[in-house]
Amino acid sequence: MSTGTTTTPSTAQASGGDEATDLSKQYDTPLGLAHTTMQALKDRIKLHYDLASDYYLNLWGEHIHHGYWPTESSKANDSKETAQLNLIRLLLSISGLLPQERDGNGEEKQLRILDVGCGIGGTTRYLASALAAAVTGITISGKQVQIASRLSRSAAAAAAAAARGPGLDAPPAAAASGGGDDDDDDDADGFIPLGDKGGKVRFVELDAEQMGDYFASSTSSASASASSPGREGGGNGGQGLFDVVWISEALSHFPNKVLFFRNAHRLLRPGGKLVLADWFKAEDLEDGVFEADIKPIEDGMLLPPLCTQQEYVGLATDAGLKVLGGPKDISKDVSKTWDISWSLVQNPSLWAFAFSQGRDGIAFLQAFRAMRRGYANGSFRYAVMSFAKP
Ligand SMILES: C[S@@+](CC[C@H](N)C(=O)[O-])C[C@H]1O[C@@H](n2cnc3c(N)ncnc32)[C@H](O)[C@@H]1O
Repeated sequence: MSTGTTTTPSTAQASGGDEATDLSKQYDTPLGLAHTTMQALKDRIKLHYDLASDYYLNLWGEHIHHGYWPTESSKANDSKETAQLNLIRLLLSISGLLPQERDGNGEEKQLRILDVGCGIGGTTRYLASALAAAVTGITISGKQVQIASRLSRSAAAAAAAAARGPGLDAPPAAAASGGGDDDDDDDADGFIPLGDKGGKVRFVELDAEQMGDYFASSTSSASASASSPGREGGGNGGQGLFDVVWISEALSHFPNKVLFFRNAHRLLRPGGKLVLADWFKAEDLEDGVFEADIKPIEDGMLLPPLCTQQEYVGLATDAGLKVLGGPKDISKDVSKTWDISWSLVQNPSLWAFAFSQGRDGIAFLQAFRAMRRGYANGSFRYAVMSFAKP
């Protein structure tokens, strides 16, 4: 998408509040379309990401999550891309994740990570490279799987070219594939090797609510082939298939959060970690504030009822996990994301595209204002937290 003729009204930058722009006023949309069933909501979420992911890539880059500006210096200097990486580093830090872990015999072994609701794979690739890990990304959107795989093959080809050094041509097979959609270099389990430290990624189109049974029916996390879902094997109900379950800004989309925490517990090995970043409503909101601030976010962003941070802690501990880090509320250090985003979407072609996608497209853009209002009022919150399986 072109963000070319951006008109950036002063109101979009001037405050952290809820200002409409001339452009957004043209598309005022009544809010409050009920989700008739949770499956209908999931269908709308899938459609949204199938349609919008190319636009996300152009607007936000490879990460579809908030930026984190932890200090005054960071707020003054860090781009949104740097701030998005700051958020991943914060999650690594609160969960104490290191490049490799040693097993009981002191042997290094490769971390197996499940990135739930992986978007177009920005975090999946980052974790594979930074931790030399085998990372499986799952998303409900088939379009995101395509984009994530393409970006990963391009990154792998670029890393291979850099390793060869200037002036050295790629071997004929690699040159022919060009790092695009070709899966010739994928390993037998469908992983795309990234760099020379052993990191690798693969992407599976999967409703996360199925992830417990899906991976349980595979031989192991490393061989749960993307191309052969549902293969028999394992026999242990999927226990212990991953060292880390990572979920960044996806759980708020899931209707059944109890099931997610149970599945995370089931798929983690003892000592394994659940690492989480998400959107929340503040504790003890008055009805009027909830209606004005939170409802438009739930509606436009396709969310079942938002939880509080303590509700997630309760669900995780009920599922048998123990708190490792957080919850750390970083609302004031991430809210700038929506000031930038509101400016970025002051583009008539983008609203026209959203309009062509129907009411959900417009409600999505209008929700950007609600995000700014919620942060400014303190009713909408952002937090990170991590848990361990005893
Ligand atoms: C806001 S994006 C976050 C993407 C990514 N985690 C990141 O941090 O860049 C939300 C993601 O959740 C995924 N998602 C939503 N509901 C899902 C479900 N039921 N199963 C799997 N993925 C889902 C979407 O497809 C999308 O990739």
